[in-house]
Amino acid sequence: MSTLLTVTGVTKAFAGNAVLQGVDFAIGPGEIVGVIGPNGSGKSTLLNAISGFTPVDAGRIELGGAPLQRLAPHRIHGLGLARTFQLPAMPEKMTVFEVLLAADNRRHGFWASLCGGAEQRAQEAASRALATQWLGELLLTGVRDTPAAALSGGQKKLLSVGCALMGNPRLLMLDEPTAGVHPNLRRDMVAMLQGLAARGIALLIVEHDMHFIGELCQRCIVLDRGRVVAQCTPAQLSQHPQVLQAYLGSEHPVVLEAAV
Ligand SMILES: Nc1ncnc2c1ncn2[C@@H]1O[C@H](COP(=O)(O)OP(=O)(O)OP(=O)(O)O)[C@@H](O)[C@H]1O
Ligand SMILES: [Mg+2]
Repeated sequence: MSTLLTVTGVTKAFAGNAVLQGVDFAIGPGEIVGVIGPNGSGKSTLLNAISGFTPVDAGRIELGGAPLQRLAPHRIHGLGLARTFQLPAMPEKMTVFEVLLAADNRRHGFWASLCGGAEQRAQEAASRALATQWLGELLLTGVRDTPAAALSGGQKKLLSVGCALMGNPRLLMLDEPTAGVHPNLRRDMVAMLQGLAARGIALLIVEHDMHFIGELCQRCIVLDRGRVVAQCTPAQLSQHPQVLQAYLGSEHPVVLEAAV
């Protein structure tokens, strides 16, 4: 299998608190990989490190062979990596549709200035069509013209997924995408995300919902106190001694057996 993202020896400490300790893993195109672990185990910090929001102390991160670890987040985004945040913040004065359009970076700056007249209108039409498509797939059509800041917590989560997709990423990283999302919609999200993977988009998904992980992911990376303690299929989690140790402080399999 070819590799899209490679993370090698990534280490990060905050004021002496070692939050990532030599993290190694790789993801191929179209692969769906879950990142699980107890609260505070370093999952969000790992996404922040890969996407350039948190500079790493040591290690290498490559996307399609290009080193990322000294690039600013917008440069990394330009290479095809989009992400959502655990707690999405939305602008006060933009509607849901406007927020989606603003997330399409092909509409701005250099390219927009180069594309005069008809080309710019075609780009605008393509952008609006893509935003309309994601509104539909994320069941947000009914709130198209609502101020984004007025959405519910679950709807903001969905809108942040839509924003990430407006960038046509090769790798999409989601930080707890189902938190606050209705269970019926979680099922739709599984199908939608599988559809993205079938188109070759790799997915790295931080999630506490083990049913969601079990349905969606081909492989799981388990973090405990900043270290990768297991890489296995969701079905293998409940029997993995290091996973049980991380979650339960023992090798008692009850909780994870119920979940996956
Ligand atoms: N900017 C920061 N400054 C100082 N400490 C930080 C910073 N970001 C994260 N940490 C610390 O790093 C540790 C890991 O945090 P992180 O947010 O990565 O955990 P997590 O696995 O995502 O947890 P959760 O499941 O609760 O979201 C925590 O102890 C946190 O306090
Ligand atoms: Mg987190």
